[in-house]
Amino acid sequence: MSVLAGRHILLAITGGIAAYKSPDLARRLREAGAEVRTVMTSAAMAFVRPMTFQAVTGKPVHYDLLDPASEAAMGHIELARWADLVLVAPASADFMARLAHGHADDLLATLCLATHARIVLAPAMNQVMWANAATQANRTQLEARGVRMLGPGHGDQACGEVGTGRMLEPTALVAQLCRFYAQGPLSGCTVMITAGPTREAIDPVRFISNRSSGRMGFDLGAAAREAGARVIVVAGPSAEPLAAGIERLDVESAEQMYETVMQHIEGCHIFIGAAAVADYRPEAPPAEKIKKQEAAISLRLIRNPDILQAVAALESGRPFTVGFAAETHGLLEHAEGKRRNKRLDMIAANWVGRPGLGFESTTNALEILWAGGHVSIDQGPKAEVARRLIEIISERYHAQDSTANSGS
Ligand code: C5P
Repeated sequence: MSVLAGRHILLAITGGIAAYKSPDLARRLREAGAEVRTVMTSAAMAFVRPMTFQAVTGKPVHYDLLDPASEAAMGHIELARWADLVLVAPASADFMARLAHGHADDLLATLCLATHARIVLAPAMNQVMWANAATQANRTQLEARGVRMLGPGHGDQACGEVGTGRMLEPTALVAQLCRFYAQGPLSGCTVMITAGPTREAIDPVRFISNRSSGRMGFDLGAAAREAGARVIVVAGPSAEPLAAGIERLDVESAEQMYETVMQHIEGCHIFIGAAAVADYRPEAPPAEKIKKQEAAISLRLIRNPDILQAVAALESGRPFTVGFAAETHGLLEHAEGKRRNKRLDMIAANWVGRPGLGFESTTNALEILWAGGHVSIDQGPKAEVARRLIEIISERYHAQDSTANSGS
């Protein structure tokens, strides 16, 4: 089975003569088993008609941000969530500039801002435009943000010149995407991630919870999936979207999260505890709503099981175990203490209560600690920070694996 089977690929076409190759690309992606939806810019429609893509993909083509009918069918946010990967082929110089500057003035640019999926560009333009300092600066900036470039290739151009700027052929683009997924550093691995807050019932209508959005755990899930892993996310209540292709097990309380993790942990190679699990729960929540009668009431709280610690203590089939430490002070000392106490392979420490970092923020920065090692991940969007953390985890996981193998 192809590594593209079941992947949700949003194929975006911008204005360039290479757009005549894009229907063939859509067809080949489908032949490789991917589900393909298409977005076109208005400039693209000067080169190819939407009808062609509709015929090739069997799905309506999206091109209008402000069309109530198409927004009602599948709006830009749903499309952004649906995608596993956004492939812009061809990607014009103008589109690269608009993406680099975060425009949101048409459907495609807005989608790219709204998606957590990996964005891949197949640039196509005149060789002088490609070599231009402005285009190269945009390219560098986009690559630094995690956007991948496939091509451009070298050869004859539609304008009669010869040079670098040709869109790669559809077969080459499909082959590179297959390689991208197949060679993922976590292919063949199963990764379990806990995410989000837990809710601890006070009575049937009230609960104790915390400010975790679940975003960091969900972004780790997407990054692990992108790295080729099978991913299981055990999620506390969260309104955040989760990327396609991830197995999601919903829970509410810490006890339910513990049970669910323990039921499914067998066979997992890596466990990441990214959930903000409540440390305590009300001891005996009544079956009926507590009435407002007393001037003051007391809630007795008892400890919840520590899920991360329990996984790290598994005697057989213990996965490579990664925890998080959210701290308001003494970040590195507390995190290292936690890593040792809970016998973790790695811990990701982040500040909480500082602007732009942690719980309710869309950006984060982390300090990663393991026995004998430490790296920092600079502040950036959570999806980017998640990709970097998954890279570090897979490096350490494989390093540990090879040490174990060479010792046996
Ligand atoms: O000890 P502390 O709660 O600060 O540790 C945080 C780490 O432990 C996080 O990775 C969190 O997901 C995990 N944890 C857990 N079960 C608990 C408490 C925390 O898995 N009951």
